[in-house]
Amino acid sequence: MDVRMMKPSDIPHVQLANITNLPENYFLKYYLYHAMSWPQLSYVAVDVSRPPKSPYDPPKIVGYVLAKMEEDPADGVPHGHITSLSVMRTHRRLGLAEKLMRLSQRAMAESYTSSYVSLHVRVSNTAALHLYRDTLGFKVERIEPKYYADGEDAYAMKADLSELR
Ligand code: ACO
Repeated sequence: MDVRMMKPSDIPHVQLANITNLPENYFLKYYLYHAMSWPQLSYVAVDVSRPPKSPYDPPKIVGYVLAKMEEDPADGVPHGHITSLSVMRTHRRLGLAEKLMRLSQRAMAESYTSSYVSLHVRVSNTAALHLYRDTLGFKVERIEPKYYADGEDAYAMKADLSELR
């Protein structure tokens, strides 16, 4: 498995993974905006177990993290934000999400002196909650009622990055 920074040419494959794994989907231009504005913050996991048959073979993207810097932070503190994270079912519980998250968080701290990272997650998303809270040390800041289009509440979570700076 190769885990590397996301390139603009990866975006259609990242978008496909996003549509496959999550109901929160985005226009292509929003991915491009992330890649152009904060290129160090988004990463992909590529299955390299089968070598490409030709230079035109698309990379087999099995996971991604799409991340950005918050542009107008309400608290005035520069911080990173995880827009979206997912791993294909076939490749879960291999530590890929943790690796993607740690790479993005490190870049937030080192490249943008981000003091913390924030995200939203569905209150029912047990797997992601375990990852964020137990593995990565995120804390729940507050509940945002009806945050999602289907009416589900979100936990607004954050994790301190000061040790990485
Ligand atoms: N049940 C309980 N804990 C879990 C589970 C699970 N199904 N999956 C992961 N975890 C926790 C565990 O603590 C795990 O550590 P362990 O394996 O040592 O026990 C830890 O997370 C790390 O697991 P990874 O292998 O790195 O996680 P994975 O690569 O499987 O990806 C993810 C986890 C991203 C939540 C995956 O299940 C997924 O893509 N789900 C669908 C999409 C999704 O929910 N994305 C998050 C939405 S929130 C957002 O995007 C900001």
